[in-house]
Amino acid sequence: MTEINIAQIRKEYGSQKLSKKTVDPNPIRQFEIWLQEAIKSELAEPTAMQVSTVSPDGKPACRTVLLKGIENEAYIFYTNYDSRKGQHIASNPNVCLTFFWAELERQVHVEGSASKVSEGKSNEYFQSRPRKSRLGARISPQSQVIKSRNDIITAFVAESARYIGQKVPRPDNWGGYAIVPERIEFWQGRESRLHDRLLFTRNGKGDWKIDRLAP
Ligand SMILES: Cc1cc2nc3c(=O)[nH]c(=O)nc-3n(C[C@H](O)[C@H](O)[C@H](O)COP(=O)(O)O)c2cc1C
Repeated sequence: MTEINIAQIRKEYGSQKLSKKTVDPNPIRQFEIWLQEAIKSELAEPTAMQVSTVSPDGKPACRTVLLKGIENEAYIFYTNYDSRKGQHIASNPNVCLTFFWAELERQVHVEGSASKVSEGKSNEYFQSRPRKSRLGARISPQSQVIKSRNDIITAFVAESARYIGQKVPRPDNWGGYAIVPERIEFWQGRESRLHDRLLFTRNGKGDWKIDRLAP
């Protein structure tokens, strides 16, 4: 087998710039501009983000989920509340979301506090999902050890039969989280690793303050 020297894999960045003069003073609006550009660029999963959480004993964990909306300046995603991430958030609501749009040489970190969205909002989104996704959410004890894939398939088939001709209801342990940001950092790759980094933090009055960070 040919060995690949991964230490020598590197890409030179520098297609675009980011400056205090051109950035939107509201980081949520700036995020939406970048997200639209990522969607228009037809990247594979433009809404994919890594959600980092911390366990009750202080150990971090991270996984990918899909951003499903930004409402009232809060970032929304949906999951199983009993999952590992759900248990972490129940004991510590502080989370970090990371977006990496490689082709655009961009990264965004969003740090803030997560809380459950209303049941009405979770119901509305749940019912907008494909029927099979709704059935899957009902029978999957997300993050738990299972004996075999077959057990999940059997449960899925039984649940499908149970709801034939009926609306598939949202299970109580499945719904959305809304993350209200306190800190948002925009990263744009630049030449010679001298990247642009702009950090937005809220000042005492709730307005956003912008600082440039060293790359
Ligand atoms: C591209 C992609 C999108 C995903 N979207 C979601 C999602 O929106 N919600 C979700 O619960 N899991 C999603 N997953 C699965 C999670 O990464 C993860 O495996 C699952 O939520 C269990 O995580 P946990 O055990 O840390 O709670 C996605 C995975 C990938 C690769």
